[in-house]
Amino acid sequence: MDCLMEPYLTAKQRLRIQTRHKASIEQYGYQPQALFWSSREIQQIRFHKLCEILSSKQNQQACSVLDVGCGFGDLNTYLQQQGFDVDYLGIDLSEDMVQSARFQHPGIQVQTGDLFDLNPAENAYDYVFLSGALNEVVETDIEGTAEHKGRYAKAVIAQMYRACRQGVAFNLLDGRHPWVQSRPDLQSFLPNEIVEYCQSFAHRVSWVDGYLDNDFTVYLYKS
Ligand SMILES: C[S@@+](CC[C@H](N)C(=O)[O-])C[C@H]1O[C@@H](n2cnc3c(N)ncnc32)[C@H](O)[C@@H]1O
Repeated sequence: MDCLMEPYLTAKQRLRIQTRHKASIEQYGYQPQALFWSSREIQQIRFHKLCEILSSKQNQQACSVLDVGCGFGDLNTYLQQQGFDVDYLGIDLSEDMVQSARFQHPGIQVQTGDLFDLNPAENAYDYVFLSGALNEVVETDIEGTAEHKGRYAKAVIAQMYRACRQGVAFNLLDGRHPWVQSRPDLQSFLPNEIVEYCQSFAHRVSWVDGYLDNDFTVYLYKS
């Protein structure tokens, strides 16, 4: 595995993400716009693509799921609506988001923090998902040079793979898209770059685009 040394988020960066989401919840309440999604449909199209990884499941047995950057925990509801029996844990850097998730979905398992705070054991969850949580340019404790661009995101992806027993599904903004290119505050990648990176450690990698203009989804499999 490409060993990326602890590109931890700076305290300033954490605070920035937390402050933005506190403000967005105050402004929009329990709405996709509080998550910076333009509509519920856009959120659900992404969920639909992520969950295609479950179509290869051999049976309807329960599986454990970790959702990184879970927001309100809507992926849990989506999975249940699709008939999946999941033991769900969501994590999110924003304490306000976590509290809102608990309020909207009583009984949901959610925790505050990022994946390095959770520090899951190897193979701890059947599936690890991430939707939209790597779409912002972030500062880490390493100077943000071009060389280090995306370093935190790549470390999160590698850690997600380590934590899964069966597979990982995540989406990223597609750097080929002009709208994405016009937004320096957004973090984007080229699919080839990410696939090549994931192939350096994952048993099997596939990806898909074309379901939205500016997004692609990557699937990593342990077998
Ligand atoms: C675009 S929203 C998507 C929320 C959810 N995945 C969904 O699709 O409904 C991104 C979420 O990721 C959280 N987030 C951003 N960076 C994160 C990180 N490094 N670790 C954990 N959560 C993060 C934000 O607080 C926000 O709730």
